[in-house]
Amino acid sequence: MQFVVTGSLGNIGKPLAERLVREGHSVIVISSNTEKTAHIEALGAIAAIGSVHDIGFLTETFKGADGVYTMVPPNFGAVNWKKDIARVGENYAAAIKASGVKNVVNLSSLGAHMPDGCGPVSGLYFVEKALDGLEGVNVVHLRAGFFFTNFFGNIGMIKHLGIIGGNYGESPKLALVHPNDIAEAAAKELLALSFRGKSIQYIVSEEKTTNEIAFILGKAIGKPELPWIDFKDEDTFNSLVKAGLSKEVAENYTEMGVAVRTGEMAAEYNALRPSIVGKTKLEDFAPVFAAVYAQS
Ligand SMILES: NC(=O)c1ccc[n+]([C@@H]2O[C@H](COP(=O)([O-])OP(=O)(O)OC[C@H]3O[C@@H](n4cnc5c(N)ncnc54)[C@H](OP(=O)(O)O)[C@@H]3O)[C@@H](O)[C@H]2O)c1
Repeated sequence: MQFVVTGSLGNIGKPLAERLVREGHSVIVISSNTEKTAHIEALGAIAAIGSVHDIGFLTETFKGADGVYTMVPPNFGAVNWKKDIARVGENYAAAIKASGVKNVVNLSSLGAHMPDGCGPVSGLYFVEKALDGLEGVNVVHLRAGFFFTNFFGNIGMIKHLGIIGGNYGESPKLALVHPNDIAEAAAKELLALSFRGKSIQYIVSEEKTTNEIAFILGKAIGKPELPWIDFKDEDTFNSLVKAGLSKEVAENYTEMGVAVRTGEMAAEYNALRPSIVGKTKLEDFAPVFAAVYAQS
């Protein structure tokens, strides 16, 4: 079969492309960077260089594919981040319609039931809606939990302040996922192509409280006493801006933290209580975290 993978050699794109190639399929990987061509070809895949903002490019690349994996790359330069994300969803929908693709595995997020109030995830609400509007196209939305790899973003804080934290409230339980588990779920759907109509699948590897996260990651770096600090919204926003993010992106991440704290982001997930499909535990990821910590 022929598949198109968006998201280049990112957290999910790379393991997904590798898996599909290993299974003997023809895989086209979309990247915005010509320098990635050799790396993509080294995996045994075909590189398509262009942007998710270019409907013509997407249409040509999607033509003839048995299935497409869609995701929205983070755009930290966006002026209106939610709208920017929603627009990529519209681009995908237009290209899927024009190219005649019939099967789409779309990366979404826990919280994508919220059209507003959940930061970038509220942009993904509109991506889901754009794809759901496609007649005669099978779409499965993989609503992923909070990536383990996001914790790499806390390394500076741990090193310089000796703490880890966020504005999520007093040690709430977070639904976490390893990107490899998402790639595995996406590969499973693409290889079987048995999903029909429009559906949602929650992809979570395990649930941990923020205190448990601090302990597991802290222990791996020789700091078992590492405290998880419950930040005020204002402090979260200011620390994100200080770390170099734009006000727009910092506002969105702070808003998402509020949605975690109020329970709204996980409301649908908690109501459904889907089974945990991911196999990777935070303990398995901790040595990788420690290695990156040591090198930074
Ligand atoms: N982080 C979380 O906790 C979380 C939770 C749920 C869902 N998500 C979703 O997951 C997404 C991130 O997935 P990921 O971690 O696999 O991505 P990633 O590792 O950030 O990789 C995305 C890749 O897309 C490529 N790209 C950037 N701009 C592009 C453009 N305009 N056109 C084409 N390609 C472009 C880049 O590679 P090149 O330089 O090669 O182009 C980039 O490395 C988020 O945006 C969000 O929608 C995240």
